Amino acid sequence: MIKLVGIRKSFGEKEVLKGIDLTIKAGETLVIIGGSGSGKSTLLRLMIGLIKPTGGKILIDGADTVPMTEEELDRVRLRMGMVFQYSALFDSMTVGDNVAFGLREHTKKSELEIAAIVREKLHLVGLGGVEDMMPSELSGGMKKRVSLARAIAFEPSIIFYDEPSSGLDPLMTEKIDELIVNTQKALGVTSVVVTHDMASACRIADRIAMLCDGYMIAVDTVGRFKESKDARVQAFFHALRTAKEAKP
Ligand SMILES: Nc1ncnc2c1ncn2[C@@H]1O[C@H](COP(=O)(O)OP(=O)(O)OP(=O)(O)O)[C@@H](O)[C@H]1O
Ligand SMILES: [Mg+2]
Repeated sequence: MIKLVGIRKSFGEKEVLKGIDLTIKAGETLVIIGGSGSGKSTLLRLMIGLIKPTGGKILIDGADTVPMTEEELDRVRLRMGMVFQYSALFDSMTVGDNVAFGLREHTKKSELEIAAIVREKLHLVGLGGVEDMMPSELSGGMKKRVSLARAIAFEPSIIFYDEPSSGLDPLMTEKIDELIVNTQKALGVTSVVVTHDMASACRIADRIAMLCDGYMIAVDTVGRFKESKDARVQAFFHALRTAKEAKP
């Protein structure tokens, strides 16, 4: 479904990605982990076509998106949903208008049809009767769920999540995880999730991919990942455990 071949990305003098090869299978949930600044968000932005790589190919269903024009990319992006790190809702619009935004922009659906879709998607993320509220009236977790509803309104075949539960409490994190898994099951989508949270990664991932020093150093199932002998993988697990133990 998504295939990265030799992806490189530099910002000025600095090469952040030094040749990434990665295949993401249709219907799987792939979790990308790695230290802060390792290039996880950059990798997502490349896959969505928001930025161009310095080298390499990005195949979406066999078609290389790297040489595509904005117009061609827009067509590919209609099949993608994106949940940004900071929910990125339009503050001046109601929740309902936020979820309806893309449908109004890119489809010829009637207002009646759109209202039904908005209700259905909000229901799917566990929010009912919030259409007329403003984003400022919602909690952080609710905003995340609204942005998830907006991402799935199109019924995309691929959803990208950038740190969907950062800044949320453990209970809300579990709810968001459930939502990711349920959305995957209900819509059969391919999910690519960036997270710092190893517990969360282990709950939702079919496979985990780890970025380190510009390379994808490990891509494996959760079980095999945990047993990896790679010192950098172990260090990542260990650092997170220690950080947790250090908390009061
Ligand atoms: N538009 C940009 N211009 C210049 N440098 C950039 C740009 N975007 C990212 N970078 C640099 O690329 C590197 C990777 O950034 P990126 O945001 O992808 O990291 P990340 O793995 O998502 O980190 P975090 O876990 O903190 O979100 C960083 O060193 C960052 O400074
Ligand atoms: Mg990031």
